[in-house]
Amino acid sequence: MAEPKFAPSILSADFARLAEAAVAVERAGADWLHVDVMDGHFVPNLTFGPKMVADLHDATRLPLDVHLMIERPEDWVDRYADAGATYLTIHVEASRDVPGTVAAIRARGIRAGLTLNPETPVDAVLPYLDSLDLALVMSVHPGFGGQKFIDGALDKVRAIRAALDRGSLAAELEVDGGIKPENAARVVAAGATVLVAGSAIFEDPDGPAAALRRFKQAIRR
Ligand code: DX5
Ligand code: ZN
Repeated sequence: MAEPKFAPSILSADFARLAEAAVAVERAGADWLHVDVMDGHFVPNLTFGPKMVADLHDATRLPLDVHLMIERPEDWVDRYADAGATYLTIHVEASRDVPGTVAAIRARGIRAGLTLNPETPVDAVLPYLDSLDLALVMSVHPGFGGQKFIDGALDKVRAIRAALDRGSLAAELEVDGGIKPENAARVVAAGATVLVAGSAIFEDPDGPAAALRRFKQAIRR
């Protein structure tokens, strides 16, 4: 099985020590840092904004994979681009103008992602695949770390993988929520190229390096 990229989600780290958490996963061999931005409206939780992304950008060399769980993401593209986001992913349910926002992200020279909630049919994102750098399948209801993986996400991963392959499209296919060493191989087999994991990496009693080793072993098996 092709080895996926790993994007630890700092949502599960100690918010008073986010720079240390970023450095710890960088040293542990993470590929990207997943940064969950929540506005208290689109999701029932609140995290941080562009300044935190800018400060993380100064703290780590890891590409910043910014997942915007906010209403009207179109109003925030410039601020997250200025802050140093590598990927900027918006929710299809949150934007009034998905193609316009994707184009605005790419016009800033950064990579555009589109994601969907578990209850949103996969058809909502398929029309945009050829304009995306990343498609993200949510495998939990966004808002909190530590939830259980929703199995129905695997069908969406397979549907997006098939559409990407059919169109010879090279966008990354990322999955976020409830990913553990126990289910990671199934997610990769369905066609994912990037795995987000929060609690499984930051709450592992043996630390993030051991957690990432466990993920990699589980996928090689
Ligand atoms: C949920 C976030 C996820 C979350 C994943 O709203 O988008 O990135 O941090 O955490 P785990 O891996 O614990 O489900
Ligand atoms: Zn996320």
